[in-house]
Amino acid sequence: MRLIIRKDYDAVSEWAANFVARRILAGKAQAAGRPFVLGLPTGSSPLGLYERLVGLHDRGALSFRNVVTFNMDEYVGLPEDHPQSYHSFMKERLFSRVDILPGNTNLLDGNAPDLDAECARYEAAIAAAGGIDLFVGGVGEDGHIAFNEPGSSLASRTRVKTLTRDTRMVNSRFFGGDPDAVPPTALTVGVGTIMDAREVLILVSGANKSRALRHAIEEGVNHLWTFSCLQLHPRVVVVCDERATDELKVGTVRYFNEIEAPNFENSIR
Ligand code: GLP
Repeated sequence: MRLIIRKDYDAVSEWAANFVARRILAGKAQAAGRPFVLGLPTGSSPLGLYERLVGLHDRGALSFRNVVTFNMDEYVGLPEDHPQSYHSFMKERLFSRVDILPGNTNLLDGNAPDLDAECARYEAAIAAAGGIDLFVGGVGEDGHIAFNEPGSSLASRTRVKTLTRDTRMVNSRFFGGDPDAVPPTALTVGVGTIMDAREVLILVSGANKSRALRHAIEEGVNHLWTFSCLQLHPRVVVVCDERATDELKVGTVRYFNEIEAPNFENSIR
């Protein structure tokens, strides 16, 4: 697992945007006709990334014409046009602002009449698209990736998941501060679905994520910290800010800073 440490949230977003843009551009150059398949998260962590991808698009440096997206998760039972649905989030933050083809964006339908069938459909759609080239994700304070809460099977596939009280408390900031207003269940890709991606990029920002980062970087693979499963993936980059390293050993930070120093500057122009 690679760890890129940048100064703050803005620097993390900048580095991540250049990384994603490079991959999209390389995908286009390599395989004319085959789209680049991008897995995407919601939440606070990717806001700066999306802002910068829109900026690159506006400058004419990046097009999404050749990109197909699959989002990680969606709440169950929230109307698609609810301001806090992940459908609304993606439309507002990215899809309506770039040249992606509407038919190329995929999200789980949390209002499907048969949720298990919807999850199976999603896995089949990812496979039919040729698998995910790059899965971008954030991480919860308790180390969850997508909505794979502590104790999730590390072999899990897309499914219905009950959210923990902790996650509903943390996400209540988007629901007027009321944890009970946060839907109790969600559809989420599984840890196994993320592990199948050819490459994974995880964004980690803030001291509140430092325990999760320590478990993923310095501790063993553990289903209580699903983030840590990525140690078993051959191509993972974690980009974090300095505050997120608060719980890492000084030697760990020094090691990754030394080995990754040549990769800190990655702007595409
Ligand atoms: C939610 C999402 C995750 C996200 C996590 C962290 O629970 N399902 O995909 O990574 O929260 O969110 P944030 O980036 O807002 O801290």
